[in-house]
Amino acid sequence: MSNLIVDIVVGLQAGDEGKGKVTHHLLKERDYTHCVRYNGGGNAGHTIYHEGKKFVTHLVPAGVFYGIKSIVGPGCVVDINNFFKEIQMLNDNGIDTDGLIYIAENAHIVQSRHLQEDGSDTKIGTTRTGNGPAYRDKYARHGLRAKDVDALQPYLINFFNEMHRTDANVVALFEGAQGFQLDVDWGDYPYVTSSHCTTAGALLNGIPPRCVRDVWGVAKMYETYVGAKNFQPADEIFTDIQRVGKEFGATTGRPRQCNWINYDMLSRSILINGANHVVFNKVDILREVDAWHLRINGRSTSELIFQNEEQMKDYLTKSFPDSTLYFSDNPESFELCA
Ligand code: IMO
Ligand code: MG
Repeated sequence: MSNLIVDIVVGLQAGDEGKGKVTHHLLKERDYTHCVRYNGGGNAGHTIYHEGKKFVTHLVPAGVFYGIKSIVGPGCVVDINNFFKEIQMLNDNGIDTDGLIYIAENAHIVQSRHLQEDGSDTKIGTTRTGNGPAYRDKYARHGLRAKDVDALQPYLINFFNEMHRTDANVVALFEGAQGFQLDVDWGDYPYVTSSHCTTAGALLNGIPPRCVRDVWGVAKMYETYVGAKNFQPADEIFTDIQRVGKEFGATTGRPRQCNWINYDMLSRSILINGANHVVFNKVDILREVDAWHLRINGRSTSELIFQNEEQMKDYLTKSFPDSTLYFSDNPESFELCA
């Protein structure tokens, strides 16, 4: 029987919080045997700086950058063409993926009819990667699974055996996609994605709760959202944040709408995800525009305005005493506590 330990990286806002960066940094600093994507598909866009070079991954877990076995888990949906394209992109840029990338046999496939259908979405503002229709067909019980696709045979893995039926110690880092505000149950329905983006979504991949060691919640010092609803207030400061923060979608290139942190949503998200570590990214962007605000009480918002960076950090630190907070002001790393 295996000795299984799992750490989970989870998005606390509406995606694009820097989950890829946090995953990449943890893989570098800590010892892991596996890296696993646990939800979503090619709709994700994870920006990762590896040895000074910028990469954007959509499906392949960040373990490949460090020669760590990287698995697309049972909770994911896979677009076969994009999967092979992504491997090619990594190889072309000097990342050796040989024998490192696997897909769980019971992951589902994004089929061409899913792409076609999602391609004409205007209601939600999806990434048009076929995600919603693929998950719908999975739950309607007429989906297609990875194990039934000839071209994927060399990549297939029995995820249960890999995690549980081995004599080796397994220490796996689970890399989430999307985030709490896009979760199909907890997000701003219907402006959500079609998978479970919370910590619970990781457990659905066959992970018993007792095996979870740390939950790394990832947030930004402000919020962004890409999709059909109106999110950005009409104030120039948000245009500045968008420009300075280079807030354009890594998957679709669409501009990301910006707003201050929704404090109530963040509190809920930290609680429901059980994040005992919380990384706040992009402190440097607010530093550049020199504005430090929080929204309190949801949309109709009153605002908390801080005089400076330290005040806002202090407020957040006091607000979440059960979590260890990290503040990052660069796109590659953050300082881990000893
Ligand atoms: P990462 O992993 C930000 C958004 C889309 C749309 C909604 C539904 O990079 O954080 P979908 O294609 O999933 O049916 O679209 O969800 N969305 C994301 N926004 N980051 C993501 O992933 C996203 N994946 C989907 O813009 O509003
Ligand atoms: Mg992204």
